[in-house]
Amino acid sequence: MFKKNILCIGAGYVGGPTMAVIARHCPEYQVVVVDINHDRIMRWNSDNLPIFEPGLDEIVSAVRGRNLFFRTDVDEQIDGADIIFVSVNTPTKTFGLGAGKAADLQFWEITARQILKNSSKPKIVVEKSTLPVRTAAAIGRILDSNEKKIHFEIVSNPEFLAEGSAIRDLETPDRVLIGARETDSGQAALKEVVDIYKHWVPEEKILTSSVWSSELSKLVANAFLAQRVSSINSISALCEKTNADIEEVAKAVGMDSRIGPKFLKAGLGFGGSCFKKDILNLTYIAENYGLSEVARYWEQVLEINSYQQRRFVDIIIKQMFNTIVGKKIAIFGFAFKADTGDTRESPAINVCRGLLDEKAQLAIHDPKALDGAAKDLEEYAGQFILESDPYSAASKAHAIVIATDWSQFVSLDYARIFETMEKPAFIFDGRNLLDHRKLYQIGFSVHRIGRPPLSKL
Ligand code: NAD
Ligand code: UGA
Repeated sequence: MFKKNILCIGAGYVGGPTMAVIARHCPEYQVVVVDINHDRIMRWNSDNLPIFEPGLDEIVSAVRGRNLFFRTDVDEQIDGADIIFVSVNTPTKTFGLGAGKAADLQFWEITARQILKNSSKPKIVVEKSTLPVRTAAAIGRILDSNEKKIHFEIVSNPEFLAEGSAIRDLETPDRVLIGARETDSGQAALKEVVDIYKHWVPEEKILTSSVWSSELSKLVANAFLAQRVSSINSISALCEKTNADIEEVAKAVGMDSRIGPKFLKAGLGFGGSCFKKDILNLTYIAENYGLSEVARYWEQVLEINSYQQRRFVDIIIKQMFNTIVGKKIAIFGFAFKADTGDTRESPAINVCRGLLDEKAQLAIHDPKALDGAAKDLEEYAGQFILESDPYSAASKAHAIVIATDWSQFVSLDYARIFETMEKPAFIFDGRNLLDHRKLYQIGFSVHRIGRPPLSKL
């Protein structure tokens, strides 16, 4: 008999790891994770988990079957739960009003109605997905529209984990944010959710706020992080014109304790499923409230991100004598960042599309994301191959493009790779990852982001 029953609807990048960590630290609670995607649940119940995260396998194998369960019977699991976390996806709307900007809340609304239909007693419903500010009001209206007179208390508890470091972020978060209503029932629900995190998070790191502040803070945190990436990338373009070095500039600027050193790494721009969608959502909300200047301000963060990727493709074409038709180019990395197999909004997609449109032949290598690459580029089938071995990918290639910051790319034998490539051999390091001087000494022409090229030509 468990002391409390927690249900999580949505077994994705957030629901799976978050619930595994809760189950690990709260052995007296039962944690059930449900999803409509049967294949995903089957993999959560296997040795081949549906997502790759360092440290995740160990935790899941320790707690699965003890107090962590993955299931597909969503309706049946609802009524037994005291607290329901909802971490379904909230992508950008692709149709109708707000298409291309607003968050698509259809999965959330379906879930709210499922909760309502299958409940016979009060519950706490926790917003784990990232949602537009004031969503709790709309969800509340749906949940309150019941004749059973059941009370549902909505609490906002956005997730700040980053992929690739999800377990570390969940185990030792900078903060946990929980927003609830000021009412007695709101504060009682708040306490219940705080109690979960208190099992392993120091109390001073558990922040409480109003529901609206909590919902908005999540969007703002992502917008600020993305803004830093676009800020440094905009300056990288200026560095390339002036022979300043972006790494030196970032270091000098980041050592100001008011600015700080994190998120100042210039590269191909940000990818991932959330930064773009959350900024689009923020601009949509601002516009809806008549704040068009605010919306324009944040739109620029996205504009610089696309510009950075276009710029990089242009540099490759220009350096390779203005034509890459039929040339083999090795792409090292397709995931949107290292240590994940996720390719959603990966900068590699736009870079590869740009090269494929110029009729290059690509050999794509990634330690974890080749399935994603095949899907993301399916309209170019026949123009690219997937290679599990980086040496084969680079063999007979005219150039290597570093698109993801996987640490294993640093220790490859580039002298061996150089021997097998067409000459002149180019490296375009879109992540400023490799030892450029060493590569230059081997014989490569090296182009990087925001730093003077080391060119043989
Ligand atoms: P995801 O697509 O990996 O997972 C969502 C899951 O919800 C899917 O498996 C889907 O099948 C399931 N689902 C949808 N409707 C359902 C329903 N009615 N019943 C049961 N299951 C249903 O998404 P994710 O990356 O885990 O993101 C989830 C939310 O968390 C989003 O709002 C996102 O913005 C936010 N978020 C994501 C991250 C991240 O790193 N991925 C970090 C913080 C916050
Ligand atoms: C991001 C946030 O960091 C999380 O706090 C948040 O919870 C999450 O979004 C979300 O809401 O989904 P994530 O997208 O997983 O996490 O990964 P980040 O580490 O933030 O990297 C995002 C992108 O920015 C990557 O493509 C990365 O390569 C790029 N980046 C990051 C840079 O180009 N330079 C940097 O200095 C930092």
